[in-house]
Amino acid sequence: VRCQSTSTEEEEPKRNILDNASNLLTNFLSGGSLGSMPTAEGAVSDLFGKPLFLSLYDWFLEHGGVYKLAFGPKAFVVVSDPIVARHILRENAFSYDKGVLADILEPIMGKGLIPADLNTWKQRRRVVAPGFHALYLEAMVKIFTDCAEKTILKFENLLKEESLQEEKVIELDLEAEFSSLALDIIGLGVFNYDFGSVTKESPVIKRKFQSDLKVINDCLDGLIRNAKETRQETDVEKLQQRDYLNLKDASLLRFLVDMRGADVDDRQLRDDLMTMLIAGHETTAAVLTWAVFLLAQHPSKMKKAQAEVDSVLGQGRTTFESLKDLKYLRLIVVETLRLYPQPPLLIRRALTSDALPGGYMGDKDGYAIPDGTDIFISVYNLHRSPYFWDKPHEFEPERFLVRRESEGIEGWAGFDPCRSPGALYPNEIIADFAFLPFGGGPRKCVGDQFALMESTVALAMLLQKFDVQLKGSAEDVELVTGATIHTKNGLLCKLKRRDNAH
Ligand code: HEM
Repeated sequence: VRCQSTSTEEEEPKRNILDNASNLLTNFLSGGSLGSMPTAEGAVSDLFGKPLFLSLYDWFLEHGGVYKLAFGPKAFVVVSDPIVARHILRENAFSYDKGVLADILEPIMGKGLIPADLNTWKQRRRVVAPGFHALYLEAMVKIFTDCAEKTILKFENLLKEESLQEEKVIELDLEAEFSSLALDIIGLGVFNYDFGSVTKESPVIKRKFQSDLKVINDCLDGLIRNAKETRQETDVEKLQQRDYLNLKDASLLRFLVDMRGADVDDRQLRDDLMTMLIAGHETTAAVLTWAVFLLAQHPSKMKKAQAEVDSVLGQGRTTFESLKDLKYLRLIVVETLRLYPQPPLLIRRALTSDALPGGYMGDKDGYAIPDGTDIFISVYNLHRSPYFWDKPHEFEPERFLVRRESEGIEGWAGFDPCRSPGALYPNEIIADFAFLPFGGGPRKCVGDQFALMESTVALAMLLQKFDVQLKGSAEDVELVTGATIHTKNGLLCKLKRRDNAH
C-alpha cells in the first residue's frame, strides 16, 4: 500500500496517512498488531486489595514487556521494556501527551509543565529549565541544610523532654516529618516562602495548604505580585555575577521574573509554581521515607552510611562540595528510587498511530498502536525487572558500583558511565532507560538534581545524629499509592541519639 508518486507538499499529509495505514496493515498481517498483543485477563477483580502497580508487575512476569490490560471497554497498553519506553519517552516523544494524567491534574496545575499540552510545554520548558542552573543548586544545598538542621533540632529538643523521664529514645512518624521538611524546602526554593511547617507545633498552614486550593493560589498571586514589584532585570552574564550563596532570595520565582521581564503571564507563572510545589513535595518526602524504611531493615548498611557521614562531615554541615564525597549516601538515594519510584507509573496517550519497536523480551516485531491508545510505562516493573537486575527486590546500594579495572573507571553496574560523564547520580542515560527515576527524554523531571541533592543532605544530617529503627515490624508498614507510593499509617520510628553526636 505504498504511495508511489513523487510527493509534493500538499501530498505529504496524505502520504503519512497511507504510510500509517500501511504500517498497521503490515503489523497486523505479521501478527504484530495490538490485536496480537498479550492481554492481561480477569484484570479488574485482581485489582482489589492491592495497588494497581503491584498487579501490573505480576502481569508483566506473565505476559512480558508489552501487554494490554482491559478495564471494561477501556484498554491500556502496559510497557515494562526499556527499548519501548525509550521510544515513547524520547525517540518519538512528541507523538504522545499526558492523556488521563493531564485530565486529572489540569484543575490543580492548569497549564503547568507536567500536564501542559505540547505547545504550552515547548514555550515554558525553555523558560523554566535554565532556572535550575549550578549556582542555584549550590544555593539550594544551603537551604536544604538549614531546613534539615531545623528538623534535627526539633528531634533533639523532643529527646531532651523525653530524657527527663529517663527515656533516651523518641518515637516519631518520620513520613510526616519528612513531608513537613520537604514542604518547607520547596516553598523556599521555588518562591522564597517559608511555610514553617517543621517548627510549627500545629501545622495549620500545612493542612490548609493541602486542602484549600484557593488559599494557595491567592498566596502565589501575592508572591508573584511582590516579585514583579521588586524586579531587578538581569541576563545570564549578570546573573552569574550574583553572589548566589548570600542572596536573600535565590528562588526560582525571582529568577523567572528577573530574567524574563515583567510581562510574564501571571496565570502561567502561577501554574508553573504550583506544579513545582506539588511535583517536588511528596515525591522527595517519599524518597526519604523509603530510604529510612530500607536502612532500618539493614543495620549494617546504616552503619556504613553513618561511617561515611562521620568521615566526610564529622560534626559539620553538608555543603555542595561535600555531596561529592557522600558517595554511599547518594547510592542509597538512587537505590531507594529504584525500589520505590515516584510515581511508579508514567502515563501517556498516543496523539497519532505509532509503531512500537520490538523490545528485549520476546516481542521482536513490535506492535502498531492506533492513535488515542492509553499507555502506562511501568517504572516500577523496569526497576524490578529480573531481566536487568540481580535480586531485583533487594536493597543493595552497592549494585550501582563497578570498577572497570582495565580502564580504571568507576561507574554504575551493568551500565555505561561514559554515556553521562561527570554525573553525580546514576541516571536513565547511563542505564539506557532500564533505570528512569525521573522519566526521560524531553519531558524528564526538571527538578531531578534538586531532589537528589535534597534527599542526600536530609538523610546525611539525620544519620549524623541518630540511629533509626522501625517501631513495629517492616510487614506492618502498609503501602498505598496516589501519585506517589506512601505508607498507609505513617512510618513510625524510634530515634536514638548516636553516642558520638554532640
Ligand atoms: C516531571 C519525578 C522532584 C518538577 C517528573 C517526572 C518524573 C518526576 C518521573 C516525569 C513525568 C512524566 O514523564 O510523565 C520526580 C521525583 C522527584 C521529583 C521522583 C523527587 C524525588 C521534583 C522537584 C521539582 C520537580 C523537586 C521542582 C522543583 C518537575 C516538573 C516536571 C517533572 C516541572 C515536568 C517536566 C516537563 O514535563 O517538562 N518528575 N520529581 N520534580 N518534575 Fe519531578
